Amino acid sequence: MSNRLKIALQKSGRLSELTFEIIEKCGLTFSRSKNNLICSAEELPIDLLLVRDDDIPGLVRSKICDLGFVGENVYLEETYKDAQPEAIEITYKLGFAKCRLCLAGPQEFQYTSPSQLQGKKIATSYPAILNAFLARNGITAEAVAMNGSVEVAPRLKIADLICDLVSTGATLEANGLKIIETILQSQAVIIRRAENLGAEKEAIIERLIKRIQGTLSARQNKYIVMHAPRHSLSDVVRLIPGCESPTIAQLEHTPDHVSVAAVCEENIFWETIEQLKAAGASSILVLPIEKMLR
Ligand code: PRP
Ligand code: ZN
Repeated sequence: MSNRLKIALQKSGRLSELTFEIIEKCGLTFSRSKNNLICSAEELPIDLLLVRDDDIPGLVRSKICDLGFVGENVYLEETYKDAQPEAIEITYKLGFAKCRLCLAGPQEFQYTSPSQLQGKKIATSYPAILNAFLARNGITAEAVAMNGSVEVAPRLKIADLICDLVSTGATLEANGLKIIETILQSQAVIIRRAENLGAEKEAIIERLIKRIQGTLSARQNKYIVMHAPRHSLSDVVRLIPGCESPTIAQLEHTPDHVSVAAVCEENIFWETIEQLKAAGASSILVLPIEKMLR
C-alpha cells in the first residue's frame, strides 16, 4: 500500500471551496481539473479524494482515506449508523462553517418541552441524530428521511415538523418556520482513522495540522504599525485590539515619537483606526498576515 496520506473532502458545496483554499495556503498545490476526483500534491505525499460529504466518514472508516474534512453533523450522523464508531475520531475542529441542527415547526406551534414531540412526524436528512435525540428524551416520533428541501415538508403535509441545519435562519424564515429546539452545534472538523498510521503518516498529519492552524490564525490576525507620540503611548496601546505585547522602537529623527507594531488577534475596524488617530497615532498601516507559526 502506498504511504501517501489520503484525504477525503467534499467535491462541491458549502465546505469545499474554503477547505480547498486552506489546504492550498498550507503550501500544497494540486493538479486539479473539475472532473479530476483524485489529485496529488507535489510538495508532500498527500492525495485528495473529492467525494460526496456523506461518503467521507465511510471512506475513513473503511481505510480508503486516512483523513476527512467534513461537517461535524455529517460525521455524527454516519457515526450513529456505524457498527464500529470507534474506528474514526475527530482530530481537529476547524472553527468555520458553524451551524446548528434544529427542530423547527410552523410559527403557531407553541413549544415548551420535548414531550410535545410525541407521535409527531419529523422530516430530516439526519434521521440517526434525530432518533438519538428522541430516544434520549424518551419520545416516540417518526423520522421521515429526506435528502434535501426538508423545509417544504410541513407545507406538503409530509411531516409536522422538520429537523434541519440552520446557519443564517433565512431558509426557515422563507418557509414560515421557526426554531423550536437546537439539537446540535456543528462546525467543520478533520476526522481520522483512530488507529496509529505509522511514523511517516503520523508525521505528515502533524505537519499538515500545524500548517492549518497557522493558516487559520493568520486569516483572523492583522499586523498593525504606526507612529505615536511618547506621551500618549499607553492610550494608543490600549486601543489596539487583542494585542499581546507591542514592539516599541525609537524613531531616528523625532525623539518624542516612537514606532509601534503589534499582531492583533482580531480584525481591525475603521472605528479603531479613527480612535488611534484621535489618540495621536499617525501613519497607521494595517497589514494582512499570510502565515503564522507560534
Ligand atoms: C442547508 C440546510 C438549510 C439551509 C440553512 O441546506 O438544509 O436548507 O442550508 O441555511 P440558512 O439558515 O443560512 O438559510 P444546504 O444549502 O446545505 O442544501 P441542502 O438542503 O440541499 O443540503
Ligand atoms: Zn437545505
